[in-house]
Amino acid sequence: MGRQKAGDEHSGPASSSFIPPPLTVLIGRASELEAVADMMRRARLVTLTGPGGVGKTRMAVELGRRQARQRADGVWLVDLAAVGAPEDVAAETARVLEVRGVAGDATTDVLRRYLADRDVLLVLDNCEHVLDACAELATTLLGACPNLRILATSREPLGITGEALWRLEPLLPEDACRLFLERARERRPELVPDDDTERAIVDICARLDNLPLGIELAAARASVMSAEEIRASLEAHFGELARAGPHPPAIAAFAPRSSGATTFSILSSRRRSGAWLSSWAASMPTPPGPSRRACRSTSWRDWSTNR
Ligand SMILES: Nc1ncnc2c1ncn2[C@@H]1O[C@H](COP(=O)(O)OP(=O)(O)OP(=O)(O)O)[C@@H](O)[C@H]1O
Ligand SMILES: [Mg+2]
Repeated sequence: MGRQKAGDEHSGPASSSFIPPPLTVLIGRASELEAVADMMRRARLVTLTGPGGVGKTRMAVELGRRQARQRADGVWLVDLAAVGAPEDVAAETARVLEVRGVAGDATTDVLRRYLADRDVLLVLDNCEHVLDACAELATTLLGACPNLRILATSREPLGITGEALWRLEPLLPEDACRLFLERARERRPELVPDDDTERAIVDICARLDNLPLGIELAAARASVMSAEEIRASLEAHFGELARAGPHPPAIAAFAPRSSGATTFSILSSRRRSGAWLSSWAASMPTPPGPSRRACRSTSWRDWSTNR
């Protein structure tokens, strides 16, 4: 299928795919990648759901990159994070695909005609804040374009017929620790954890529910704080939240609706919102440069970027 001008009404992209190469190594997720790839063979719309920062976008990028050679007309990642208005969802998709219509054409119609007989994987990333527009676009395009496949990421499902859902869970504990170490070593390459540091890292990751975003934020402090200090700071922050009681206004906003919610589940859901993490991260010292703290190495501590 040619990608240049296909008729007078639109032109196609000059390159065969748009999926940005990740800047960091993917840690863990081997079984999830296999299972979602299998799901994508059976369903034309797969949505990765899960809490903020669990790694949906990271997984979708990896899945997209792995499928690039299987899709004759490419894999196209449409990042909707910065798209504010529902009507801009189709416009952003057309912009990424470099598809232009003639004056008066609805963008969705232009996309529908362009994708009608193309073998494309569209990755609609970060859909949650424009969910209805994504659902509408996906319904229209999948209904009219038999070779189109869509991989969406969203904290909530799109909720349309034919959607297959994969709820992404946090990292396995050992992968979470590897992620911490990997990111910490970007700040302190000489870091080799001893037993105390390893315990601190395990505690930090558990405290952060093994959520990648939280772990990256915590590890970013490694140039100015030891793992033990990061753990202590997290514990202190949690102590403050717990002392604020089970339903203080700031926390209640994130509380589960069920009346049986415990303090832990409330804190846990607040953690998942990422809001408390930002406040914790903002209260930490800004890293001026590398500090020195040599340790020993064993087990997952042997993790190295040079693997
Ligand atoms: N398996 C992983 N290996 C390495 N880094 C990861 C992994 N999973 C997530 N990350 C990193 O953690 C951070 C958060 O991940 P990501 O942005 O994919 O989360 P998300 O679920 O899409 O969040 P949101 O709901 O806010 O869009 C990113 O910097 C990402 O690169
Ligand atoms: Mg995302």
